[in-house]
Amino acid sequence: MARHIQLVFFSAAWALLLWAQCVSTLRFTRGDFPDGFAFGAATSAYQYEGAAAEGGRSPSIWDTFTHSAIERNTDGGTGDIASDGYHKYKQDVKLMSDIGLEAYRFTISWSRLIPGGRGAVNPKGLQFYNNLMDDLVKEGIKINAVLYHMDLPQILEDEYGGWISPKIIEDFTAYANVCFHEFGDRVAHWTTMLQPNALAQGAYDIGELPPNHCSYPFGSNCAVGNSTTEPYLFIHHSLLAHASTVYLYRRKYKAAQKGIIGLNLYTMWFYPFTDSKIDIEATERAKTFLFGWILHPLVFGDYPETMRKITGSRLPSFSSYESELVTHAFDFIGLNHYTSVYTNNRPNTIEGPLQDLSADLAILFRGLTFVDIPLQYPHIPNILRVGLFFCLQIQRMPPLPQCFVQGQW
Ligand SMILES: *[C@@H]1O[C@H](CO)[C@@H](O)[C@H](O)[C@H]1NC(C)=O
Repeated sequence: MARHIQLVFFSAAWALLLWAQCVSTLRFTRGDFPDGFAFGAATSAYQYEGAAAEGGRSPSIWDTFTHSAIERNTDGGTGDIASDGYHKYKQDVKLMSDIGLEAYRFTISWSRLIPGGRGAVNPKGLQFYNNLMDDLVKEGIKINAVLYHMDLPQILEDEYGGWISPKIIEDFTAYANVCFHEFGDRVAHWTTMLQPNALAQGAYDIGELPPNHCSYPFGSNCAVGNSTTEPYLFIHHSLLAHASTVYLYRRKYKAAQKGIIGLNLYTMWFYPFTDSKIDIEATERAKTFLFGWILHPLVFGDYPETMRKITGSRLPSFSSYESELVTHAFDFIGLNHYTSVYTNNRPNTIEGPLQDLSADLAILFRGLTFVDIPLQYPHIPNILRVGLFFCLQIQRMPPLPQCFVQGQW
């Protein structure tokens, strides 16, 4: 995962360079893009705000991660100061306006707004987000507020294990309620969660992202966790918390606030490593595990059949009430797209009944380092293919939700 994260940054720099070259040779202008197309930028609370122990904020699982596990974070970096956005947001909004940004996606930090995880709202946290949003509105920058980006208040992780307990659903919905009530008059797009599908493996199977859950022999260095079951519980509770929040927004706020609400997925595009049947099947399996796991319930009310066959009872079931709740629980799907990989079938070699998500997936992703495979596919246009894939999937079901691509390189 660490290698993978580096790749993302590398790929971002590479793409930007190429993009800049395209722009200068092809002379694109704003007029080449339709009115509904917004140029924006995005941050996450832990990477942006800093002021980790200021203004009444309580630690999140990211603070615990960066402070306790230096070996997992080799440069010893923390988000204690980060981009110091808590103090510098005014200058930042001014900069955004100067470079002509039309939209800004940022995360509200749950531990800043409700330091106890539930209950009392922190007035200083409230003030910070009100100030930031007022400034953005003044500059005419459209707000996409994210409720959750891997930064659970540590207190809820300690109290009941965070996302692996169904208790999270009520607490998350109550936190969202505060956000809608306090900020909803200025928010155009609400994103409930960022990239839950990336966390299932990173945080609950191999345990390399907070809150570092995994179990032997599937991950190393985890104090708690169960790689066999928790990735599936995490997504299950994420879907239910998301859906319960969407239901709340639609019932109580949408008519007056006129925003839209959805969730964001981590996307890669997959190419079969060889023309063999098993690699072509592996490619379909990758799409099912990365996209279908989340999208299929949101469109059809249940997990994909392929996943059920592979995972059996480890994949939780939706009651009929829950199934109805998740079906169509989105106005948009946001896509973070970084890169593409080759998918190579990897026979499952783990013996015994206990499998983890990686064993269930049974794929070797190649090309992540750009070393073992020559780079054949241009990366940039893939966002269009991924976007199209999603739009086609989603629009098979009425009522047709809007299909958005929030591309991120
Ligand atoms: C994980 O959960 C499975 C299924 O409940 C169980 O059989 C296994 O012993 C658990 N593993 C650990 C490390 O707790």
